Amino acid sequence: MVKRGLSQLDVAGKRVLVRVDFNLPVEQGLDSIAGYDQRLRATLPTIRYLRAQGCRTILCSHLGRPGGRVEDGLRLGPVGERLAYLLDCPVVTLPLSEAGGIMGPEVDTVLAGMAAGDVALLENLRFDRGEEANDAAFAQSLAGLADCFVMDAFAVAHRAHASTVGVPRHLPSAMGLLVEREVGAMGRALASPDKPLAALLGGAKVSDKILLLENIMDQLDHLFIGGGMSVTFLKAQGYNVGASAVEEDRLGFTRAMLAAAAARGIDVHLPGAVVVASEFAAEPAEAGVVGVGDVPPGGYIMDIAPDTARQFAERLVQCRTVIWNGPMGVFELPRFREGTRVVAQGIADAAGITSVVGGGSTAEAVEALGLEHRLTHVSTGGGASLEFLGGLELPGIAALPDTE
Ligand code: 3PG
Repeated sequence: MVKRGLSQLDVAGKRVLVRVDFNLPVEQGLDSIAGYDQRLRATLPTIRYLRAQGCRTILCSHLGRPGGRVEDGLRLGPVGERLAYLLDCPVVTLPLSEAGGIMGPEVDTVLAGMAAGDVALLENLRFDRGEEANDAAFAQSLAGLADCFVMDAFAVAHRAHASTVGVPRHLPSAMGLLVEREVGAMGRALASPDKPLAALLGGAKVSDKILLLENIMDQLDHLFIGGGMSVTFLKAQGYNVGASAVEEDRLGFTRAMLAAAAARGIDVHLPGAVVVASEFAAEPAEAGVVGVGDVPPGGYIMDIAPDTARQFAERLVQCRTVIWNGPMGVFELPRFREGTRVVAQGIADAAGITSVVGGGSTAEAVEALGLEHRLTHVSTGGGASLEFLGGLELPGIAALPDTE
């Protein structure tokens, strides 16, 4: 069922509580936020829409996992400053109450002084244990701050927390523009993809991709496997993978998946060659390209080989839809980025391909390469996009009313 969208919610001149996901790496201060502020930028259309409607916009987000206690390093001040810069308007980060709560008389006073078009940001929701516990009283207090609610935090929609599923019970609610875009792009890629359809899967673990694979298998024409998860696939095919981490408990699933792919006529593309290092480190003593049959004992598979990456890219661009989740190598180590870069560049350069990229490490890789605007859709959600593409209902979206 289609959920109510922002244009169907009467927000003009009202106080609107907006759940956003500003869960960013703030540890290194504002400079680091500027490099990873995609989740902030993604919410700008909703905030601008509400400002144009004369709303008083009250944003709320979590940051990190403080476990129900105030942690100074996880306060949202720096995020608010960055948002103010991006929006080009002041953003008031709301104070903690004297008792350390994220709501209270101090917050009420600031909110009472807001004018049409003003934007405020509540302190980190997870400073209150009621958030993750989906506490009914905490949800009701949050709802009490506003006249209506907009859910624009796709990245946390897979969590049934007070601010995602509790608040919409109390207020007229709708999806924000970001959630609409996420659900629309990924929903289309699942329900009616232009064919041929390819899945490009990488990242550390097979386990993370099981739901996704099972959900798209019947539609798939090509399956490309790289990254750490390719180690388990290669091992399942009888290759020696040196010291690389194998998910022994997933070897059976991997073999079953390869058999199911063969039965359905899906073209499976595994790396023909890989970059192997003598240690799992940023600057190993030795690193080089070997065929998958020649991985030495004690060697670590760190990336797909440049030739494999080019072959993947050449085949991928013959497809019309690509669903991509997971880097092709240990992307966080610059020396092992090349496989991911070649594949991403190939997809970005191709004309007429719909590319849907999962969030988390894949989105970070694509942003680090500066290619996010050249792909059709890069999700802001890591776990949330995997669950959505895996066919699960996300509680934070299910909680919203259906469209009229
Ligand atoms: C994310 O960054 O994936 C979301 O904000 C969810 O965070 P969580 O895994 O801490 O719930």
